Amino acid sequence: MDKMWSGRFSAGASSLLDEFNASIMYDRKLYREDIEGSLAHASMLAKQGILTSDELAQIVDGLNQVSKEIESGEFQWNISDEDLHMGIEKRLTALIGDAGKKLHTARSRNDQVAVDFRRFVIRKNGELVDALKRLMQEIVVVADKHTETLLPGMTHLQHAQPINFGFHLGAYLSMFKRDIERFESSALRNNVSPLGCAALAGTPHDVDRGMTAELLGFDSVSVNCLDTVSDRDFALEILFNISTMMMHISRLSEELVMWSSYEFGFVELSDAYSTGSSIMPQKKNPDVPELLRGKTGRVYGSLMGLLTVMKGLPLAYNKDTQEDKEGVFDAIETAEISLEILKEAIKTMEVKAHNMEKACAIGHLSATDLADYLVEKCGIPFREAHFITGRAVAKGEEINVDLSKMEFKYLKEIDERINEDVMEFLALRHSMNARTSEGGTATVRTQEQLAYFKNFLEGQ
Ligand code: ARG
Repeated sequence: MDKMWSGRFSAGASSLLDEFNASIMYDRKLYREDIEGSLAHASMLAKQGILTSDELAQIVDGLNQVSKEIESGEFQWNISDEDLHMGIEKRLTALIGDAGKKLHTARSRNDQVAVDFRRFVIRKNGELVDALKRLMQEIVVVADKHTETLLPGMTHLQHAQPINFGFHLGAYLSMFKRDIERFESSALRNNVSPLGCAALAGTPHDVDRGMTAELLGFDSVSVNCLDTVSDRDFALEILFNISTMMMHISRLSEELVMWSSYEFGFVELSDAYSTGSSIMPQKKNPDVPELLRGKTGRVYGSLMGLLTVMKGLPLAYNKDTQEDKEGVFDAIETAEISLEILKEAIKTMEVKAHNMEKACAIGHLSATDLADYLVEKCGIPFREAHFITGRAVAKGEEINVDLSKMEFKYLKEIDERINEDVMEFLALRHSMNARTSEGGTATVRTQEQLAYFKNFLEGQ
């Protein structure tokens, strides 16, 4: 009967219940936030005259000692203590005696866990932003080298128009920049302090919520305590933000997998980030992007899991909420290693520019340019120009020649309004560089976009 809440109970808890009820084996990850939260709370209680300065000094020493024990690994995490809050408080009281028993004045585990988890998630938002920036830096380095490397731009996975590889990577830079902004805005929105809400309704003690909020780095105090103790939007947001980021990573991964195949041959992943086969000696497999693609599913699972835990929960705190942590921890760890390994894979991969350019010679990538030429130079309405170009493509298929390489005489046969200067328009590099509209693929526009991302990364 050594439970902190054992007063109203006459029989001890079954060990099965201890096992089922406990979160201490995973919520101990929050120990840093928990101790900082307690230090802030104790300082505030002392300032308000609720603790003496001597009691405060003992609590500070005791908590520092607990922190050392946790960091050195000697701290005893017991399942019977249920969660880290009670495990730490129990150890504190064992170390310092009665002063330790006063720490929980004007506080509940409900606001305590809300503080700890919220601050942990906000810290992780920042760390993920930094990791995303490191990934973007590497992508920028590769993109910079390839603003003139042609590759087939695709729609429906069919050759569409020639673009350059730097531009293609710029699409992913755009996605990762949005991811950064999402993490940042979530951190900003959720940076309100739950401390002082106590169990659900606030406390009659004369607490200074503003003081603990400031000590803990929150921007302000939460408005309504009933909401605050059961609000897990911040956890859902990081799960959604990681899910969206992993969705982006999975799209790039899918391309890396395809590009590594013989059929594409656009990139070769380095040996350090490829794996072999246990039976086929010749194999070099793109396991890294495949696993990244796969891990996306696991993160989505955590998002759906917590959304479902929260669905229909009556106010305020319910024990269901304890199920909020493992999925978030797992998603964050998955995101951290995914960002790191993707960065390294990109940094060390070989870009086979020659094969990218070779692939552009198939599929009449400059067909749209012929149609545009007919509109611009010959005054032909676009629909008709589209049809004429279709006939030129059919001719190319018949004689097995790509439009970009077709002899002028065939084009003239198709429509006599076409002049010799069309040849320049059909060249693939010309086609890429013709797309100078804002955000377009032309090398100058691509360079402008990369400058924008560099500026974003530097400006942060
Ligand atoms: N371990 C609990 C959690 O993670 C802490 C809050 C428990 N509060 C309570 N009244 N049972 O949610």
